[in-house]
Amino acid sequence: MIVGNKHYRTVELRGHRVRMIEQRRLPYAFEFRETEHWTQTAAAIRDMSVRGAGAIGATGAFGLAQAALQASDEHFSKEVEAAAEGLRSTRPTAQNLFAGVAFVLEAIQSEERPSLARQAAVEAAQLWADADARSCESIGKFGAELFPDGCQVSTHCNAGWLAFVDWGSALSPLYVAHRIGRKLHVWVDETRPRGQGARLTAWELGQEGVSHTLIADTVIGSLMAQHRVDRVIVGADRIAQNGDVANKIGTYSLAVLAKAHGIPFYVAAPWTTYDPGCAHGDLIPIEERSENEVRHAEGPDGPVLVASAASRCWNPAFDVTPARLITGIVTETGIFEPSRLHEASES
Ligand code: MRU
Repeated sequence: MIVGNKHYRTVELRGHRVRMIEQRRLPYAFEFRETEHWTQTAAAIRDMSVRGAGAIGATGAFGLAQAALQASDEHFSKEVEAAAEGLRSTRPTAQNLFAGVAFVLEAIQSEERPSLARQAAVEAAQLWADADARSCESIGKFGAELFPDGCQVSTHCNAGWLAFVDWGSALSPLYVAHRIGRKLHVWVDETRPRGQGARLTAWELGQEGVSHTLIADTVIGSLMAQHRVDRVIVGADRIAQNGDVANKIGTYSLAVLAKAHGIPFYVAAPWTTYDPGCAHGDLIPIEERSENEVRHAEGPDGPVLVASAASRCWNPAFDVTPARLITGIVTETGIFEPSRLHEASES
């Protein structure tokens, strides 16, 4: 990740503190938030200071390491298990959060003595975060071949480096292609209600120097009809065994439009997003968020009312795109047809 010519990671463990880019302030200000205690780390996931599947996975892992560092010798297991539950309960959809917390919990539980368990927790959390960055870099290398010179690409929400520890999933192939000199153009939709496309992806692409245009969510069908979109690539929050994909609300509509126009539709995600215990997309828990996110838009000075205050709103944060609409899933080990994902996960 490059911001102002400097390399950063979205989230890090520094001593007993978790340090993350404060994503709620972007693109107005580039600031960090530091948490001292796992409960504050859980709050940062819940209030979306940190968001994106991989980033909340790493934050959950660091939060649990933080909890192990702070737990008493006397009630060590009980306190750590309560922290694991507290971190898991912050957001229900992204599989990476559950996988990151489970990975560190297993490392903790493999040690008998709290002092060794604390060390194991910190090492495991760091390993998890480093693996996230490496996997995303590798997704970029595999995925770059899908984007030839001159390609016009549509993406949704933010599945860039802000959504992971580094590199990102859907944007990583675009960064790799851009760095080897291919000229790409990215259509970024705003992604109402929270505006991750407008506020995060457009800003990220700008930092990386990738040519892009921000559009309202309603524009993409018209662009496709005018043959101005060659590929779609999006991220994922959870992938079911049959290749169905939960991703930011609006992804399903994009996939239907891509199918109607014969445009290849790719999903990019590390294997930590794959949930082998979930048979199909209807079983993926979909987070519903506050009605206020629909009524308001977030400006530099806070929320601004942009709707009738008296109307009820419905705000599902994710939708499910069925496997049949997906051309391929780009992972750190290769690109797979959705129907072959389960087989690939076992090899
Ligand atoms: O609600 P968010 O912003 O945490 O949403 C998650 C996402 O960032 C997107 O759904 C993304 O496309 C997949 S996560 C890389």
